[in-house]
Amino acid sequence: NIDPAFAGKKILITAGPTYENIDPVRFIGNHSSGKMGFDLAKEAAKRGAEVTLISGPSSQKTDDKNIAVYRVTSAQEMFDEVFKHYENTDIAIMSAAVADYTPKIKATEKIKKNDDELTIELIKNKDILRTMGEKKTHQFLVGFALETQNEEENAKGKLVKKNLDMIILNSLRDEGAGFANATNKIKIFTPTEEQSFTLKSKEEVARDILNFIAQKL
Ligand code: PMT
Repeated sequence: NIDPAFAGKKILITAGPTYENIDPVRFIGNHSSGKMGFDLAKEAAKRGAEVTLISGPSSQKTDDKNIAVYRVTSAQEMFDEVFKHYENTDIAIMSAAVADYTPKIKATEKIKKNDDELTIELIKNKDILRTMGEKKTHQFLVGFALETQNEEENAKGKLVKKNLDMIILNSLRDEGAGFANATNKIKIFTPTEEQSFTLKSKEEVARDILNFIAQKL
């Protein structure tokens, strides 16, 4: 299974959601299970890569000794962990569903049920992938785009704005795609090319993604 395109390469992968605490009991999260990212990590390790997998809260597991797993909770923690490894990375694939906003104030005690309306003020999180694009030296940088409308236009916009080498679009309008499924349907864009794939298991999607990257290295 060793693939010369990946053997000995250092691959950084993010997976799962982030949880943004509101108080010690509640958080803002999303439906990412982490499966897409774990399947990418397993496939990359199979091909001989040294994998660093940074995951938000997820029940996914691996005992592959070529995958070093770092578990984080919030977007800020994911940001900090990513930049401990980024310089020493050859290929980065960012499949985590990172929260764009976080509560401005994280209450230290459980918020009590008093008023009929409760407003939580949110502030923007740092964009991990965009920062990686700004600091890019030798890394091959791959992002994901999860869209519900104007999918292709939005994905291509993120490819350019975040200075990526490649972006993988999955649309929640496609049945069986995105999160909460064991399957996904993707379209890959580079600055000069695009390729559509059919609905497949996430293991197969991971193989398609790594095959595509292998041709580009
Ligand atoms: O985990 P699963 O249940 O298997 O589902 C997989 C998935 C649907 C979560 C995955 O395939 C996917 O699409 N991941 C990206 C989800 C997402 O947050 O997309 P986005 O379009 O909002 O973000 C674009 C890119 O920027 C992503 O690579 C994201 O990791 C990154 N990002 C976003 C915000 C932020 N603050 N920092 C980031 O790095």
